[in-house]
Amino acid sequence: MSIKIAITNEKGGCGKTTTAVNVSAILAERGYKVLLVDADPQSYSTLYYGLYAPSAPSLYDVMLFGEAPQAAISSTRFGVDVLRSSTALMEAEELLDQRKIGGLHYNDLLDDALSKVDTQYDFILIDCPPQGYKLLENVQRYADYLIIPMIPDEFALHSLRIKAENLLEIRRVINSRLRLLGGLIVMDEKNKTTRIYRDALRSQSVLPFFRATVRKNIALRRAINAHEPINVYDKRSNGNIDYQAVVDELLGRIAK
Ligand SMILES: Nc1ncnc2c1ncn2[C@@H]1O[C@H](COP(=O)(O)OP(=O)(O)OP(=O)(O)O)[C@@H](O)[C@H]1O
Ligand SMILES: [Mg+2]
Repeated sequence: MSIKIAITNEKGGCGKTTTAVNVSAILAERGYKVLLVDADPQSYSTLYYGLYAPSAPSLYDVMLFGEAPQAAISSTRFGVDVLRSSTALMEAEELLDQRKIGGLHYNDLLDDALSKVDTQYDFILIDCPPQGYKLLENVQRYADYLIIPMIPDEFALHSLRIKAENLLEIRRVINSRLRLLGGLIVMDEKNKTTRIYRDALRSQSVLPFFRATVRKNIALRRAINAHEPINVYDKRSNGNIDYQAVVDELLGRIAK
């Protein structure tokens, strides 16, 4: 059985795509079969790997028009398969609102589409959009686990209770299997302000966090230009060291 992990946070620009791309590549490097599903109409994971092709089939066609998932999956030289997104996915909200497709409830469409391929993978990571209520419901219904990347600041601290309550509600209404793997601190820095928020986030018990944090690291940005995950782009970078530690902890948490 594959393990499905959604990387999610409705706050924009908090490291979801960076985490989804690099954690998937490191899992693949360690010998696991990995599919990265780009569920964001902005298509950043797809762009990251240089796979953006607006006229080719994408998750939009797979979820809403019965296209075979294989037609929207590209393999990469990094061992990760990517289920591509496209900006067409922006229309999904409206379509999901309008109709029940093929007799399925609107939030079962992702699960139904991916059930044709997901048994071939050990891990399925889903890069989530910052918004898109019904698209996110599809992901919440499908996933086993969530990782919530957060920049350690006042906003993150403020959002904890809402996120914890939201998770309870999702488990009650949408998917009782869904579990939090952890909040994940990204763009960690040495300065005093960041340290205060990092320590506050890691020591509270409203929403459990990974012990590992990902430091702010320019190599993670440069790797995007090179269209390579950090473990290939720069093995010695703090970005790679930190995401390797995240994967170690992730595997430990799932084994429990
Ligand atoms: N640890 C880090 N160090 C330095 N830069 C980072 C780090 N993590 C992410 N970034 C940069 O921050 C920006 C936002 O990150 P990313 O795209 O991963 O966020 P996101 O949550 O996926 O955003 P969106 O909500 O728009 O999808 C990117 O330019 C990325 O390169
Ligand atoms: Mg993103």
